[in-house]
Amino acid sequence: MISISDFSSKECDRIFELASEYKQNGAENECSGKILGSAFFEPSTRTMLSFHSAMQRLGGNVLGFSDTSTTSVKKGECLADTMRTLAAYCDLMVIRHPNEGSAKLSSEFASVPVINAGDGGREHPTQTLLDLFTIKENKDSVKGLNVVLCGDLKYGRTVHSLAMALAGMGADITCVSPPELKMPESVTTCLERKHKVSVVEENELSSAVKDADVLYMTRIQKERFGSPEEYAKVKDCYVVNKEIMSKANENMLLMHPLPRVNEISLDVDSDKRAIFFEQALNGVFVRMALISLILGVRD
Ligand code: NCD
Repeated sequence: MISISDFSSKECDRIFELASEYKQNGAENECSGKILGSAFFEPSTRTMLSFHSAMQRLGGNVLGFSDTSTTSVKKGECLADTMRTLAAYCDLMVIRHPNEGSAKLSSEFASVPVINAGDGGREHPTQTLLDLFTIKENKDSVKGLNVVLCGDLKYGRTVHSLAMALAGMGADITCVSPPELKMPESVTTCLERKHKVSVVEENELSSAVKDADVLYMTRIQKERFGSPEEYAKVKDCYVVNKEIMSKANENMLLMHPLPRVNEISLDVDSDKRAIFFEQALNGVFVRMALISLILGVRD
């Protein structure tokens, strides 16, 4: 599970169906005796803890690390050796790492399935699954929706995976970013060539929001900038506040993968269109579905 393009639409539908079942009815000890290996080389709150919660709610166990300074990585061990070893101790693994391609490389050395929980600025496919699940819970269909992706579209891995999935499902995509943080050409070309979706680019959020069915905000990815000066130039470039929300339609969904820094002001949280904490909660059910399907306890 390295890229969102590894999932067919049929597989996505099955994940969503099972996630709904878990959300409504909970789970029995379906993964009892199974172990999830969890290798987080980068900070994480929601992704890591919802994976752990998902495995524990399925009756399974979790082992791993989120602080490499307590592992042999500190002694200079290479990624392939660490992941090959962890694979021997578990039934499936989830990895987050600052380098693009790290999940793919791990999968080549691991004897168990590997789930990409974010490889540098490239992709974050399981976030996309929970984003789509949340959209589908709230809208009749993804086809024809106008989805505005806003913020750091260059380094934001969530929007790379999400844009590809949305295009495949027939949504229209508007990208709002500063010129320095535009959606990479590798993604826009794929949207245009493979999915025949032309991407609209804008710099003004206040005008883009007027026709949006979904506004997906992202954090400016401070840790991926070359220098503090470059970050300072674009920091706080878009902030969703009450004024922006007053321009949006009453059924628009305001989403965010979280963590937010300043890009959504706190006084917007009580707006019924702000669904990002429900979105984060859905991560547990979607990841439960993914784990039980990968482990073959469900089909
Ligand atoms: C995102 C990530 O790590 O890419 N967070 C998440 O997984 N929910 C977004 C971010 O860090 O800005």
